[in-house]
Amino acid sequence: VTQIVITQGGAVASTIRVESGLLSRPDLVDLIKGHLPGSPRTAVFGQPGSEGIARKVAERLDAGLRVLPDREDAKQLDVVEEAYLWLNDLAFTRNDLVVAVGGGALTDVVGFVAATYLRGVPVVLLPTTLLGAVDAAIGGKTGVNVGGKNLAGVFRHPEKVFIDTGVIAALPPELLREGAAEAVKAGWIGDPELVRIYETRGLDAPVDDVVRRAVAVKAAVVSADFREAGRRAWLNYGHTVGHAVEMAAGISHGAAVSIGMVAAGAVSKTKAGFGEAERQRAILEKLGLPVVSPQLPFADVTRLMALDKKRDDGGLRMTLLRGIADPVVLPVTDSEVRDGLAAVGIS
Ligand SMILES: NC(=O)c1ccc[n+]([C@@H]2O[C@H](COP(=O)([O-])OP(=O)(O)OC[C@H]3O[C@@H](n4cnc5c(N)ncnc54)[C@H](O)[C@@H]3O)[C@@H](O)[C@H]2O)c1
Ligand SMILES: [Zn+2]
Repeated sequence: VTQIVITQGGAVASTIRVESGLLSRPDLVDLIKGHLPGSPRTAVFGQPGSEGIARKVAERLDAGLRVLPDREDAKQLDVVEEAYLWLNDLAFTRNDLVVAVGGGALTDVVGFVAATYLRGVPVVLLPTTLLGAVDAAIGGKTGVNVGGKNLAGVFRHPEKVFIDTGVIAALPPELLREGAAEAVKAGWIGDPELVRIYETRGLDAPVDDVVRRAVAVKAAVVSADFREAGRRAWLNYGHTVGHAVEMAAGISHGAAVSIGMVAAGAVSKTKAGFGEAERQRAILEKLGLPVVSPQLPFADVTRLMALDKKRDDGGLRMTLLRGIADPVVLPVTDSEVRDGLAAVGIS
């Protein structure tokens, strides 16, 4: 068992427990709601791919289950309203508990519902994808899509996060690959050993080790900077180009972040003296992640990059690496951006 905490102003804001077989523990119910006063009721949310697991959790909790639409279809305001209305029917109070069982799309929208219903009810997240476990469920960003991705949301930590690494290890390879992009990113910005594990084991990397390490990196960064005033931007490594390619090409987030890391690696090499761009590319290839973008018009990508909400009035800033576990956020010129895009075949 590993427990990782996120702190805010010195106090524990969120506890993350990582354990194989966690969801089958006899004391699961106590673990989920034992910290709350009285005997809180619970409402469980799942998504199609996590439905079986969510149903078992709901039975253990003696709670109702709502299965929301799959993937991004869940991150919509009408889904949020449906969820509020269900909580109304249950006469939910601020002493009750929302439980989300699923991937990042599900935990993002349910986290938003919990953060806003009655101006905030407690929530516990049980991520069931690797991407959810190492990234989306950690750090208290919630949100929905309104025209653009994640444009409405709030910062609010879940009380607890429970990651059953046995569930994650059983995922199909596509979902492991998707999450590996973010996990190896955590290694590049904060944990050289995590990079080495993926380098030697590829997609067979031991899930327990990978999850513990990637969560520890994200928890440390978020504890230092919850509202993204500084260091939290390190987590955007690979995302400036990645988000633009994701939108322009309609490819998955993990694949786009992989391409974005190759581009950021190239910029890091010329601008920050990063000596491991080739090694980074080789590891992504070993994982079966793309290192070259689908054909895209250069102007479309740069326009989307300029629109990225992480932009700064002074111009575009990118998270770069001076070395492994040595990130830096720097302003980049048009010609540096051009070189970075050329490295992934966009020109
Ligand atoms: N809040 C944050 O800080 C943050 C960070 C990164 C990503 N995100 C968000 O996370 C989302 C992506 O997360 P994701 O990749 O987990 O996507 P997802 O939630 O859409 O899940 C991907 C697919 O996996 C299925 N699934 C879930 N659990 C499964 C299981 N155990 N076995 C088989 N299939 C299963 C789902 O039904 C879905 O079809 C995006 O919406 C992204 O914006 C949020
Ligand atoms: Zn990401």
